[in-house]
Order: sequence, then structure tokens, then C-alpha cells
Amino acid sequence: MIVLGIESSCDETAAAVVIDGHDVRSSVVASQVAVHHPYGGVVPELASRKHIEAIVPVVEGAIARAGITADQIDGVAVTQGPGLIGSLLVGFSFAKGFAYGHKIPWIGVDHLDGHINSVFLEPDPPPFPFVALLVSGGHTSIYHVTSHREFHILGQTRDDAAGEAYDKVAKMLGLGYPGGMVIDRLAAQGDPEKVVFTRPFLDKDQFDFSFSGIKSAVSRYIQTHPDTCQEDQAHIAAGFQAAVVEVLAYKVIHAAREKGCRHLAVVGGVAANRGLRTVVTRDAAEAGIAVHIPSPDLCGDNAAMVAAVGYHRLKAGECAGMDDDVYSRVKFRPDC
Ligand code: KG4
Ligand code: ZN
Repeated sequence: MIVLGIESSCDETAAAVVIDGHDVRSSVVASQVAVHHPYGGVVPELASRKHIEAIVPVVEGAIARAGITADQIDGVAVTQGPGLIGSLLVGFSFAKGFAYGHKIPWIGVDHLDGHINSVFLEPDPPPFPFVALLVSGGHTSIYHVTSHREFHILGQTRDDAAGEAYDKVAKMLGLGYPGGMVIDRLAAQGDPEKVVFTRPFLDKDQFDFSFSGIKSAVSRYIQTHPDTCQEDQAHIAAGFQAAVVEVLAYKVIHAAREKGCRHLAVVGGVAANRGLRTVVTRDAAEAGIAVHIPSPDLCGDNAAMVAAVGYHRLKAGECAGMDDDVYSRVKFRPDC
């Protein structure tokens, strides 16, 4: 089954063509980073307008790169929420119109389902059940995943998401937005022992996280050391990254052990972090647990992961209706 995936929940307009939920034939992502960079964060109104400009060329690009024609597509999967309403509406309305025009089924997909299913786009995906750490700009949670759509929350952040903490620390260091990748690169040049930050919630509250404290600790450090040179900045980045990575790695491995899972996954934008990938892989191997992390371009927001979820639901005969609408907040799942 050939599924066209569409994603526009935040500041990336993305489309992908995926066959049978795992074979990625094309994945096009138009980033708006340059648009929002001067503002230090995503400006919702600007994001919506940019999605409107990008949606047609991005979808056409994905179809062309897949080497197919639009009438070969069997179904459409589109992100329905959570995210920015104005942004979501662009992709969602486009998908509705595309499906209606081509007389094919379509389905609204939850963005978090998408991230969790991104591991199925890589060869050798994990068998169910497994434990997944979802780390992005909006979420930091650990789930026990029992099927493509069923996952039970084991823990989550009490305040900031890990990606949000990366972005805020980058802003404090004057490194611009978004900050994750920049801090990751800078951290590689620093010594994590030079500026040591407390590991937040390491032994506390099972699988919950808290990242606002470490963000304030970095801010205090910068205020009390105003003459930091570039070398000091690298040490701060390395110290911050070491603390965040240690907590994330420890908790997801601990969760897999407690659930008796021999496989764990790390997904979402922060899963692209080189420090996190290295530490989780190393420590999980010592515990006899296999680690599944998508390639960096499938960690950040993309439409292939949306098509992956859509495939399973369309195959099960589900189809969205013309009255369906987008939602901004994380959906309450009574079964989770
Ligand atoms: O999944 P994603 O693309 O969008 C959301 O659903 O939020 O995640 C974006 C987040 C941003 O906060 C960004 O700074 C962070 O992922 N990020 C990273 C890295 N690459 C992106 N954080 C740490 N290290 C990275 N290499
Ligand atoms: Zn995301």
C-alpha cells in the first residue's frame, strides 16, 4: 500500500511516500528555521503562512522523488495533533482535499504515535513490547509500547521538555535557535568535568523528569561567570549535555529492565544527539538490551513517520471523515 504522509504540526512542512509502513520512497522536509531564527523561537502566525506557501511544492516534491504519480497513492496520513493549530490546519486541510479529489481514504495521525513509529522505518525494528524514550522540543516521556498504536506512559517531564532545555541554554549562551544541534557540537569540544551540573531527578520519582532546574543552574553559572570565552562555553555545553544525557539514559534503561524488555527505542528530535546515542547504546549493551534509534533525519519532525502509522490504520479499514478537526494538546488516552 502506497501512503502519502503529511506533517505540519510546528515549523516543518513535510511530505513522504512510504510503502507498506516501512519502505521510505521519499521524505521531503522544508524547514522554517531561517524564518523563526531572528525571534529566538517559533512565531505561530509566521509558521502558518510559511506552511501555506510550502505545502504544494513539498507534496509535489515527495511524489516526484518517489518516482510515482499522484493517482498511484492508495491513502493519505496527516498529523492531526498535538501542535500549533494554525500550522496543523494547513496540512490537515490539504490532506482532506487531496484525498477527496483523488477519491482515496485518509487518516489523521497523532504526532507522538508518529515519533514512536519512526523506529519501524529502519531495518531491524524492535519487537513488541519495548520501551521508548520520546525526547523532543515539546515532550520528554517514557512509554511501554505494546503495538503500533498502544503505549502506556511510565514517566514524563514535570516541567520543560529536554529539547526545550537545550533551546533555552543555547539562547543563554547566545547560540541562536534551535539550539540542540549547536550545543551537541559545542559539547564535543568541551570537558564535561569542568562545569558539573546536578543530575536532575536521577534517583527520584521513578521515570519522571525535570529540566527547569538545570536550565536555571546554567543561567546562574553564566551570570556569576560573565567573562566566559568560547572555550568556557564549550565546557558549559559539555557539562549541561552530560547531565541531561545521564538522566535520560539511566531512566530509559531502568524502565526497560523493570518491564523486562530486551529492546528499547529512543525517538524525537533530541534522539539525534550524539552524546545521547553513544551513552544509551553503551550502557544498554552492558545491561543486555538492544537499542533502536532512527537515523538523525528521521528523529526530527518528518512525514515518513506519519505515513508509517497511517498505513496500519488504513490497512485496518479506518478512515477519517470530512468533519474531523485538528487538536492542539496531547490526547488523553483512557487505555494508557
Ligand atoms: O521532534 P522535533 O523535531 O520537534 C518536536 O516535536 O518538538 O524536536 C525538536 C527539538 C528541538 O528542541 C531541538 O533543539 C532538538 O529537538 N534537537 C536536538 C538535537 N537536534 C535537534 N537536541 C539535542 N541534540 C541534537 N543534536
Ligand atoms: Zn516532533
